[in-house]
Amino acid sequence: MFDIVGEFQIGDDISPLDPDSVDSVVVYGLYGHPLTHQATGYSLVYNQLYPYEGLQNYTSGIIHHVRLTGLRPNTLYQYQCGDPLQGMSNLYYFKTMPVSGPKSYPSRIAVVGDLGLTYNTTSTVEHLTSNHPDLILLVGDVSYANLYLTNGTGADCYSCSFPQTPIHETYQPRWDYWGRYMQPLISNVPIMVIEGNHEIELQAENQAFVAYSSRFAFPSEESGSLSTLYYSFNAGGVHFVMLGAYAPYDETSDQYKWLEADMASVDRKVTPWLVATFHAPWYSTYIAHYREAECMRVAMEDLLYKCGVDIVFNGHVHAYERLNRVYNYTLDPCAPVYITVGDGGNREKMAITHADEPGNCPEPSTTPDTYMGGFCAFNFTSGPAAGKFCWDEQPEYSAYRESSFGHGILEVKNETHALWTWHRNRDLYRAAGDQIYIVRQPEKCQVE
Ligand SMILES: [Fe+2]
Repeated sequence: MFDIVGEFQIGDDISPLDPDSVDSVVVYGLYGHPLTHQATGYSLVYNQLYPYEGLQNYTSGIIHHVRLTGLRPNTLYQYQCGDPLQGMSNLYYFKTMPVSGPKSYPSRIAVVGDLGLTYNTTSTVEHLTSNHPDLILLVGDVSYANLYLTNGTGADCYSCSFPQTPIHETYQPRWDYWGRYMQPLISNVPIMVIEGNHEIELQAENQAFVAYSSRFAFPSEESGSLSTLYYSFNAGGVHFVMLGAYAPYDETSDQYKWLEADMASVDRKVTPWLVATFHAPWYSTYIAHYREAECMRVAMEDLLYKCGVDIVFNGHVHAYERLNRVYNYTLDPCAPVYITVGDGGNREKMAITHADEPGNCPEPSTTPDTYMGGFCAFNFTSGPAAGKFCWDEQPEYSAYRESSFGHGILEVKNETHALWTWHRNRDLYRAAGDQIYIVRQPEKCQVE
């Protein structure tokens, strides 16, 4: 495969490969049949450049994107990719999503966040693989390349060399390592990714999210989005909206207008389930990132609530937490269930302390994230924590929380019932660490 992807270069003197030097071709056919179909795509290279003396610049190998169209739903295909004149890959296979409809769902959707590439990551991916998902949702923070210096050394701080600038070092080959490690799984199982803060990777000329946007494929165009940072798609009777926590989200933003139009066009008779996914959680009771995404919540929660979003998946906080149905910090039977699965196993620390334990409540002014805009986290105005910034016990909206590595599996059974199971890495593969039926009540909770 060397000729097809070439090799990345890193150093002072790099010269990008020519993506036009190879074709991007996928040959495919029904599983067990000849590969009679062929699709041609395009290829690209990307750079990660630093405007500082002494930092090594990076230019990627050739990244290929090929779109297959006209596939049958719920069908197993086999394929090879490459350039027929220069070499083709091994044979892989994948299964398409079932057709969209109220009685048609993927059997198992794996949800995982904050993976990175560590011993804990490999345990998570092993457990996830053993649950045979039909689809994987990766809720941001992928390779953690930005926790390495450009010489490949791991760093504990991610702005240690240049604390005064927003540009941080990254070691882009971590992305290549991550891709190679994940290949056996994601060459066969579709994966949908939404960006986290570790994907920002700001570089020269204010470019951001370059590795993320270059390496993954997003149905942005198909879903009317102009950005790789937010998009939507259907998987059987589930409509997923993948939201950008690090893209503008207030009412005047393109993202907000896109989301409003996207959710308005959803026909709940065809896709009864509406699931939102974004990186930084609105509801989390750990100190780590406590109320950090408050401006996004204030901007978008009403819209999600009015449109009857059933489930929200988040990452970012390195632990597991399942919230009861909550709207504006108040239990509400028609609000979404929020689930944080930031416990994929990256090299940062696990979140273990809760903001509601004595002496742990953070100072409000320390909570905003630079990349998420503004300060919106004020003291609660009602409820048991009125006048305070934190509860003094586990809030009633926090149903279950645990600081263990793991992943989740969503099994949508029908229009109203979905089984959610969280699996801990330290348990046997199939054991459930937390399990609950999420029940929709379309008669009771009318959608606008
Ligand atoms: Fe994060």
